[in-house]
Amino acid sequence: MKLTKNKILITGGASGIGFGLAERFIRENNTVIICGRRESALKEAAEKLPSVITKVCDLAVEADRIELYNWIAEHHGDLNVLVNNAGIQNWMNIKDSDFYQKADAEITTNILAPLHLTKLFSQLNSLDTIINVTSGLAFVPLSAVPVYCGTKAFMRSFTLSLRHSLKSDIEVIEMIPPALNTDLGGKGIHNAHPSVSDFVESVFAQMKEGKTELTFGTSADRAKANNETIAAYFNRMNP
Ligand SMILES: NC(=O)c1ccc[n+]([C@@H]2O[C@H](COP(=O)([O-])OP(=O)(O)OC[C@H]3O[C@@H](n4cnc5c(N)ncnc54)[C@H](OP(=O)(O)O)[C@@H]3O)[C@@H](O)[C@H]2O)c1
Repeated sequence: MKLTKNKILITGGASGIGFGLAERFIRENNTVIICGRRESALKEAAEKLPSVITKVCDLAVEADRIELYNWIAEHHGDLNVLVNNAGIQNWMNIKDSDFYQKADAEITTNILAPLHLTKLFSQLNSLDTIINVTSGLAFVPLSAVPVYCGTKAFMRSFTLSLRHSLKSDIEVIEMIPPALNTDLGGKGIHNAHPSVSDFVESVFAQMKEGKTELTFGTSADRAKANNETIAAYFNRMNP
C-alpha cells in the first residue's frame, strides 16, 4: 500500500497496537479515524494526537457497526483504508461457569465485527486497502486463551480468501503480531513482551517493501512452520 495521504479507520485505535499504528500513520501524513468503546481512552488518544478523529462505538453491537459505517460514508466518504484491529482476549477454561458467555463475546468482537465491517466498508468506492490484525496464535494455540486463538485462526483463513477474491480491487494485508506489551487480556499480562513501537517500525518497513503478510519476531517462524515445528512450539508454549 502507499503509506501517505490515505484516510484510514483503525478500530480499537485508542490503545496498544491500534494507537501505535495511528501515531505512525499520522507521522506519514495520513488522516486517521479511531474508534472504541471507551470515550475516555479516545479523548486521551486525541490529546496525544491532535489531528486524530474519534468515534465512540461498540463493535460487538451490530447497530453500532452500521451506525459507524453510515457516519463514515456521510462524513468521510473518501476513506480508503480499513484496519480491523479491535479485539479482546479472554483467559479461560472449558470448566469455567461463564465459558460460553466469554466465548460468545470473543467470537462476536474478533470475528463477526471485522467480517461485518469488511462487508460494509467494501461498499465504499474509495476503499483500496484492508488490513486485518491476526496473531502468531493463529498458527500455534496457547491453551489458556483457547477461543481467542480460534478466532485468530479464523481471521487468518478468511484473510487469505479475501485477498484472493478481492485481488483486482482491494489490497488485503495481514498483520501477524507475536505477543507484544499491551493491555490485551488484562493489565500486566503482556509486560514482558516487545514494545508496540518496535513492531510498528518493522511492519511499516515491510509495507514499504510491498509485503502483504507482516510478521515480527517469533510470528515469522510460526507463520511458515511445518507440523513438526508447530508441535514443538505448542509443547514449549503449553508446558
Ligand atoms: N498484544 C498482543 O500481544 C497481540 C498479539 C497478537 C495480536 N494482537 C491483536 O492486536 C489487536 C489489538 O490488541 P492490543 O494488543 O493493542 O490490545 P488493546 O490495547 O487491548 O487494544 C484493543 C482495542 O480494541 C478495542 N476494542 C475491544 N473491544 C471493542 C469493541 N467491542 N468495540 C470497539 N472497540 C473495541 C479496545 O478499546 P475499548 O476497550 O475502548 O473498546 C482497544 O482499544 C487485537 O486484535 C489483538 O488480538 C495483539
